[in-house]
Amino acid sequence: MLVRIRPEDAEIGMFVHGFDGSWFDHPFWRRNFRLETSEQLLRIRNSAIEALVIDRSRSVVADAASVSQDNGNASPVALIEDEPAPRRQPISFGPPPSTEREELRRRPGYGPECRRAKRAIERSKQAVATMFEDARLGRAVEARRMVPLARAIGQSIERDARALINLVRLKEKDEYTYLHSVAVAALMMNFGRHLGLEDPVIEDLGVAGLLHDVGKVAVAEDILNKPGGLSDGEMRSVRGHPLAGHRLLENSSGVPEAALEVCLRHHEKMDGAGYPGGLRGEALSLFARMGAICDVYDAVTSDRPYKRRWTPCEALTEMQGWDGHFDPALLDRFADSLGIYPVGTLVRLSTGELGIVMGSDGDAYENVVVRAFFDCETLMECEPRDRPIAPSAENPRIVGRDSPTFWRFPDWDATRLRVMAAKPA
Ligand SMILES: [Fe+2]
Repeated sequence: MLVRIRPEDAEIGMFVHGFDGSWFDHPFWRRNFRLETSEQLLRIRNSAIEALVIDRSRSVVADAASVSQDNGNASPVALIEDEPAPRRQPISFGPPPSTEREELRRRPGYGPECRRAKRAIERSKQAVATMFEDARLGRAVEARRMVPLARAIGQSIERDARALINLVRLKEKDEYTYLHSVAVAALMMNFGRHLGLEDPVIEDLGVAGLLHDVGKVAVAEDILNKPGGLSDGEMRSVRGHPLAGHRLLENSSGVPEAALEVCLRHHEKMDGAGYPGGLRGEALSLFARMGAICDVYDAVTSDRPYKRRWTPCEALTEMQGWDGHFDPALLDRFADSLGIYPVGTLVRLSTGELGIVMGSDGDAYENVVVRAFFDCETLMECEPRDRPIAPSAENPRIVGRDSPTFWRFPDWDATRLRVMAAKPA
């Protein structure tokens, strides 16, 4: 039996099945585990999560009533997932305390984690550059050297995912290839954590990210950085990099299976139009699908010689529209893992409102504009109001994606169009 409880009602012995809200806000590397120490308890109670889901059957709590649905603070998950369901009352904690100093510390480039994240990024970039150089010289790739780097990236993400992921998006032209590998490693580990994968698998995904583009050593630098279109020959050369990389990794020792898979398959597409195998749908593994999403997301949110970077919101909106490229359900999970959503998505705000993602803020492109239009307390529509939401803001912030079906909007497509076309107050 799964029940949803508030963080302050968590107790030692409870088996945590998952967390509500953005992955960024939950304080643990894994989603499934038993609460065993007071330190874990403190981290949960001090976190920004809205609620956690407890598996009663796997919990060992002295007072079983504390995880019972009869407890006023717990609600069975089935009530939330099944249809038809009563309208959910939001769990109200009030805005978390926020001082100017705390706000500053949470911005990209500031905060206690940023210095450590910068060090992890720099070390990883250097190691990837050395690995590429070795590969260019025909030396075997020493995959085991990537393991401590993946571990450091994972630890940084565990402490504060936003710090490293925001920092690694900023790339200079000459370091793009190496930093792209570090970024894909971070996104893969972040994603794996959100999907509830085991720690060793997540570590392998980090190594996979660091190694996935090693085949680019077989492609001339000026082709990789060429603005504008490529000739057929140049295109063939670029398209050869997954196979070239896979061959390099096959001839090296200690390369995780996940890294071989991601290296070979990160340019495949769900409709079979990708390369090198033209594999489609079910033939593509979870790791291949994750790799395709993380690779493109980082590429389009980075400045390139031939195009300006897209904002995270723009990127996810565009990627959602590329029919046949990505696994759509997995792309949704990826957006959830970042706490960033495509235009048109229904989201719940920390203000107790529902809103629709409208796009990125023009001046500070990192901000997302959400048009709030529904009050979850009164269960009534309110005058549409645009709320610019900074990624570091505590309030208002996006709590998570929400379900139009759950809130029983009679015709969600029509409601969405009407709200998006409305003049905000
Ligand atoms: Fe690639």
